[in-house]
Amino acid sequence: MNILGIETSCDETSAAVVADGVTIRSNVVASQIPLHQRWGGVVPELASRQHIERLLPVVIEALEQSSLDLPEINGIAVTNRPGLLGALLVGVCGAKSLAWAMSVPMVGVHHLDGHIASAWLTEPDVEFPFLCLLVSGGHTELVLVMDRRKRFSLGRTRDDAAGECFDKCARAMGLPYPGGPAIGKSAAFGSPNRIPFPRPLLNEGLEFSFSGLKTALIRFLSEDGGKTSVEDIAASLQAAIVEVLVEKAFRAVKTVGVNTLCVAGGVAANQELKRQLMARANQMGVRCVIPPPILCTDNAAMIAAAGAVRLLAGERDSLHLDTIPGEPIPQLETAELRR
Ligand code: KG4
Ligand code: ZN
Repeated sequence: MNILGIETSCDETSAAVVADGVTIRSNVVASQIPLHQRWGGVVPELASRQHIERLLPVVIEALEQSSLDLPEINGIAVTNRPGLLGALLVGVCGAKSLAWAMSVPMVGVHHLDGHIASAWLTEPDVEFPFLCLLVSGGHTELVLVMDRRKRFSLGRTRDDAAGECFDKCARAMGLPYPGGPAIGKSAAFGSPNRIPFPRPLLNEGLEFSFSGLKTALIRFLSEDGGKTSVEDIAASLQAAIVEVLVEKAFRAVKTVGVNTLCVAGGVAANQELKRQLMARANQMGVRCVIPPPILCTDNAAMIAAAGAVRLLAGERDSLHLDTIPGEPIPQLETAELRR
């Protein structure tokens, strides 16, 4: 079954063709980073307009790269939640029109299920249940993934996401958007021990909080008056974020007793995070799956892979499929844990 995936929930217009839920035949991503860079963050109205301009060219490119003809596409999967409402609407309207014109089934996909599916796109035989550390610009969450359909949240951020913290701190430091890659590059030349930034909630439960870290950085910048190098500040900030993510991820792995940790979302492209996760996983005898960068940041292959689970089971959504700006992953109840 060849599935066309469509992703427009934030600032990437993406289309992909995935065969049988795991084989990527094409994965085209048109990034809007240059459009939003001058504003230091995503401007929702501009994002929607650019999705409108780019959606069809990106879909056509994905079909061409897949070497398949339109009649060989058997279903469409589109991100319909959560995300920027206007941006989601563009993808969902496009998917509905194509599904109707091609007479193929269509399903709406939760964006975070897409990120989770990047685990089995990277490693088709990934062992369930696994723990997913989901770290992106909009989310920071520990998810227990029971199988390809059933997942529960073990804890999420109380305020800012890790990627959001990178982005806001980079902005305060005068580094370009998106902040994660900019801080990562700068940090490679700095000392991670130069500034003892706080490690919020490090030894408490499975929730996160990054807004205090951002405040600590802004306070440091104003008191420091430009004496400390950008590289040292970047390395110290990255060290604080990475330590919290690694600590909590392995606390969750121990709590639920799984053998596999998968990392997903844009922040999973961070080199230092990958290095520390792999090192700790080796120490603990835990299997660690980290997707390649193209599958970490937003892309439509992960949406096609997540949608394939329902399409292969014969399910479909109607042309009344709605867009939803927010929909949290259900929290784990103790009864569910015992199953
Ligand atoms: O998953 P994603 O593309 O979009 C959302 O669903 O949010 O994640 C984007 C986030 C941004 O906050 C960006 O700064 C961060 O991922 N990011 C990184 C790196 N690459 C992207 N953060 C740290 N290091 C990176 N190399
Ligand atoms: Zn995302």
